[in-house]
Amino acid sequence: PAPPRHALRGGAISFRADPFLSDPAEALEHWPDALLVIENGHIASIGPYSPEAAAGLPVTHHPEALLCPGFVDTHVHYPQTGMIGAYGEQLLAWLERYTFPAELEFADPEHAARVARLFLRELLAAGTTTAAVFCTVHAASVEAFFAESARLNTRMIAGKVLMDRNAPPGLLDGPGHGIPESEALLLRWHGRGRQLYAVTPRFAPTSTPAQLQAAGRLWRAHPGSYMQTHIAENTAEVDWVRELFPEASDYLDVYHRAGLTGPRALFGHGIHLSEGALCRCHQTGSALAHCPTSNLFLGSGLFRVFAAKRADRPVRVGLGSDLGAGTSFSALRTMGEAYKVAQLNGDGLSALHAFYLATLGGAEALALENRIGRLAPGYEADIVVLDPQATPLLRFRTARCRDLAEKLFVLMTLGDERVVRATYVAGSRILTGTAQAGPS
Ligand code: GUN
Ligand code: ZN
Repeated sequence: PAPPRHALRGGAISFRADPFLSDPAEALEHWPDALLVIENGHIASIGPYSPEAAAGLPVTHHPEALLCPGFVDTHVHYPQTGMIGAYGEQLLAWLERYTFPAELEFADPEHAARVARLFLRELLAAGTTTAAVFCTVHAASVEAFFAESARLNTRMIAGKVLMDRNAPPGLLDGPGHGIPESEALLLRWHGRGRQLYAVTPRFAPTSTPAQLQAAGRLWRAHPGSYMQTHIAENTAEVDWVRELFPEASDYLDVYHRAGLTGPRALFGHGIHLSEGALCRCHQTGSALAHCPTSNLFLGSGLFRVFAAKRADRPVRVGLGSDLGAGTSFSALRTMGEAYKVAQLNGDGLSALHAFYLATLGGAEALALENRIGRLAPGYEADIVVLDPQATPLLRFRTARCRDLAEKLFVLMTLGDERVVRATYVAGSRILTGTAQAGPS
């Protein structure tokens, strides 16, 4: 275990504000050579390195590297680890053909434990220290995930998927079972150490109106808990929801009527949302997860991040890998694809926008911006150490960058897990290269 008080030295970046809403150069803090002091898992101080400031402290020096807040993945499915890269379908057929069969395997708790271990190790190896995670309908899948996350001491949000229609029988909640099972898991795990619970109706088509209403009541009965689901990802899905819920004015209204909007409500995708729905996300404090690698992989469409973040009614937006529809654990890869999606929309997503979305923006989407997502005193010491010279190509390319913004942009264009030199969770370095990831 790390000593109670120790320090990291290296370049460092962190956001103090939202670059979509203020001058990006002002929003970014940069220390060319920082000393970051960690005490009992929290950041005690950060400032320019000096021998005096470091006196008496064990210092781990990461020369040429960049300390960055641990990345935040606001939407991901751990049970889909075994089916990443499933060929040839769009959302609804992809769910039937690949996703549901993979999730059926989680009836076996040992399988769940094995995948949870692999998934969290991969996530940390990519520098992601917090995620909002879908489990499966099986309570044991949630138990396995939180048990592993608790062992690693990672700050994770997760929940049992709720489904009571339009899925294989082995993946449906028994009549009246889904909500009490969810509540028991919530009571057991929400706020235990760093674990947080999310009430998790998969999406409107797989829950009856009664289950959605009950999910809303459960969520509201436990202030501080989360709600996560999917919205407006694919046009065939949107048409189906219109047929299933003719009384609702639009897709978001289905959730709103069930009491499933508000702060700590996390909606994956939101590609095909109207201006009115974006306004309602803003008004209610609901958050959207932008999942570019998934949206491109499933051919779902192009999320308009600048429309969502419009300054007169900004919606909270984080980045999501959305594995296994998404194709990479790496937040850097996700940022690189977010840039390309913005290009296809005619928008310019700078490195500062992208790094913000992957750190403080994600934390704001999760209403955790006072605990994670920044390098600042009092914050939890979840830190990724990025090496802009990790490969011969990166070394060659980075040497030609004129400033920090260019260097960060090259990192999100060429970088991936290879760039992650170290990951710290609550101040302890996590070793991800070994068979069993764990605190060193
Ligand atoms: N919509 C409902 N379930 C899912 C899922 O597992 N993945 C994605 N990408 N979209 C969904
Ligand atoms: Zn998803």
